[in-house]
Amino acid sequence: MANVTKRKFDVVIVGAGGSGMRASLQLSRAGLNVAVLTKVFPTRSHTVAAQGGIGASLGNMSEDNWHYHFYDTVKGSDWLGDQDAIEFMCREAPKVVYDLEHMGMPFDRNPDGTIYQRPFGGHTANYGEKPVQRACAAADRTGHAMLHTLYQQNVAARTSFFVEWMAQDLILDADGDCVGVTAIEMETGDVHILEAKTTLMATGGAGRIYAASTNAFINTGDGLGMAARAGIPLEDMEFWQFHPTGVAGAGVLLTEGCRGEGAILLNSNGERFMERYAPTLKDLAPRDFVSRCMDQEIKEGRGCGPNKDYVMLKLDHLGADTIHKRLPSVYEIGVNFANVDITKEPIPVVPTIHYQMGGIPTNINGQVVIQRNGNDNDVLNGLYAVGECSCVSVHGANRLGTNSLLDLLVFGRAAGNHIVESLKNAPKEHKKLPADAADKTLARIARLNDSTTGEYAQTVANDIRSAMQQHAGVFRTQASMDEGVKKIAELRERVKNITLKDKSQTFNTARIEALEVENLIEAAQATIVSAAARKECRGAHTVSDYEKPVDDPKTPMGRDDANWMKHTLWYSEDHQKGGRLDYKAVKLKPLTAESVPPKVRTF
Ligand code: FUM
Repeated sequence: MANVTKRKFDVVIVGAGGSGMRASLQLSRAGLNVAVLTKVFPTRSHTVAAQGGIGASLGNMSEDNWHYHFYDTVKGSDWLGDQDAIEFMCREAPKVVYDLEHMGMPFDRNPDGTIYQRPFGGHTANYGEKPVQRACAAADRTGHAMLHTLYQQNVAARTSFFVEWMAQDLILDADGDCVGVTAIEMETGDVHILEAKTTLMATGGAGRIYAASTNAFINTGDGLGMAARAGIPLEDMEFWQFHPTGVAGAGVLLTEGCRGEGAILLNSNGERFMERYAPTLKDLAPRDFVSRCMDQEIKEGRGCGPNKDYVMLKLDHLGADTIHKRLPSVYEIGVNFANVDITKEPIPVVPTIHYQMGGIPTNINGQVVIQRNGNDNDVLNGLYAVGECSCVSVHGANRLGTNSLLDLLVFGRAAGNHIVESLKNAPKEHKKLPADAADKTLARIARLNDSTTGEYAQTVANDIRSAMQQHAGVFRTQASMDEGVKKIAELRERVKNITLKDKSQTFNTARIEALEVENLIEAAQATIVSAAARKECRGAHTVSDYEKPVDDPKTPMGRDDANWMKHTLWYSEDHQKGGRLDYKAVKLKPLTAESVPPKVRTF
């Protein structure tokens, strides 16, 4: 059995993507002793894959303001987003983008030197009147540029990175406060306890619960698994975003910035079908809407290719110069993953899993909130979460493109600031570590080490992914989701029986993968059970059984505000019955703005 060593920090951050590194920067600059644990080198975190831009109403290209951004985000969320958090994010947006510019982020520039902004889906001027250019872009490598900028700043601020360390379990004391985490150092296989006055989860999403995904292989929902095992609920996990333009057959992302620059979607008749579905925004309607329209075209036989199972994204009319200047990575992806020169011919695309709207519940300071003492949003002391692993909730049932990088910056910074302030008044000493702090982790690892029979992790993981792809896709049916609930409960039993052939300590990636599957299953069960329970259509959750005509004012398109305008909370317990579900109210009151009342979403 591995040795357990102990180390103490003011703050431990789990994850070195955009949100983790934005938070760590605030903390290190304030002189705190910060450890950032990361499974991969920081600049290989999944934020690096974000392409199109960061949403902020700078108004560099035409008139824009945060009220328009706020309205678009509430409407985009299909009225499941919390309006206080959405106002906070949209108001802070210009500030965090200028911060990043001052750190040296290589944004594209307009001739007058201002940051170049491109249109993106669902972002409009004057409350839905026409598309607006709000996405602050560094070509189609915005996440890449952002991650490198944040890493450089963190190095300058002397943040300590623990690279190739995988956090395992949260340590909660008898008061229910978080006092740190356990982690495995991959190089040695040793288990460590990292004590912290504050722990911040920034572990990204769980997009690898699906078979076809734009997500990196590291996105196994580790933070969700840790939270779920500690009894913390997962919020709104039924809402998963399908990005309209994944390369057919490969899953690789082609940024919405393509359509922002003027690319269009075509069916097998060569028709620009989005004009029929969304007369105002056309190809730049929000992602849930465009993905459904694409699926509809395919279902009705207007898909392209021998199996009629994709549509085409046409870019050649933009001209080779624009493509090479604004979309250089998309050009390379076309050549490498589809054998298509996009300057000359259209590229096959399908809606592909991209983003998890739900996650660990937090408030706008990034503090994790739980149901306790009759309060649905009671702060769990010592624990924060930011970025895709969290649910604050600014994206509700459907996120607008570019609001993800924005979310990382705004809430990473806000959490960092809040931690700095709270630690000023905190006791000098750490809280006492429970005697059994590492027991849960050691038992999980011992089970794997002691196993002599059972299934391999990747066999079970692949079956989880197939089940999720089949039962929780773009269009869902009640019967299929119910079947998915049963399959995932069975898979949960199989996870308990995963075996490890190679028991060695040093860089044992098989052990890491097996531990990741224990996180995948939490995210998958939370998703399918929450989805099967939600008897309506809202945002990315479209269930054929509940679809209604657009002009039904009570339940537009099947959204049932009277019964379902509420957040889901899934608890990991009683797994054969699928865990436990509870619900809490959506916050419809913004901080200062007028609330945006629910209405039919047309584009
Ligand atoms: O399409 C994209 O570039 C992705 C952006 C996002 O998910 O926000």
